[in-house]
Amino acid sequence: MTCDLAPSILSFDLTDIRQSVRTLVASGASIVHLDVMDGQFVPPITFGDSYTKSLRSCTDALFEAHLMVNTPEHQFEAFAAAGCGRIIFHAEATVHSHRLIQRLRTMNVEPGIAINPGTPVEAVLPVLDMVDIVLVMTVNPGWGGQVFISSALEKVRRIRDLRPNVHIEVDGGIDPHTLPMAREAGANVFVVGSHLARSAELAQATKEIVALCG
Ligand code: DX5
Ligand code: ZN
Repeated sequence: MTCDLAPSILSFDLTDIRQSVRTLVASGASIVHLDVMDGQFVPPITFGDSYTKSLRSCTDALFEAHLMVNTPEHQFEAFAAAGCGRIIFHAEATVHSHRLIQRLRTMNVEPGIAINPGTPVEAVLPVLDMVDIVLVMTVNPGWGGQVFISSALEKVRRIRDLRPNVHIEVDGGIDPHTLPMAREAGANVFVVGSHLARSAELAQATKEIVALCG
């Protein structure tokens, strides 16, 4: 199973991100993690499909939309058209996760499902065989720079025991200290935002994190 770094651009300067994206990918990041917030599912509003599309020419790396929005299916077409090869929606944001995964599959988009720290693994058990990736939030969604919630790792362990081959992504508070713990629990995709955004030397910091991914 591959291990991937998926930098979140949320904590970078969003008006001046193109060179940072190129540096992240040139330094070993294989996925660009795009945090989409609607001011409803979570309080902040970030950006939408047009901003995402404007970044698409920076890199060929996989674009992964993390939709922290209600009625996520309203965004599927737009984010796929903007160049997202993977779309992750929240189990808490819909009562139709099974159907939405089917929908993404028919669109040839890799489907993913996310769960908040307060949501049990049971919420995704019925669809575990249908998704490419399960995103286990290790902070409450909405903001970068929060403290890692270690109790979420128990959910990672449980999902890994049940499904050796599904991608398990951890998102929130991941840095050189917490990444190894998440990896040991069974995660293989690591979202890193503020740790990289505040680094003095982005290429070097990215390479260090990639080395920890293994
Ligand atoms: C939080 C987002 C995360 C976040 C990660 O709602 O989903 O992707 O930006 O940022 P850090 O690494 O700062 O926790
Ligand atoms: Zn995210």
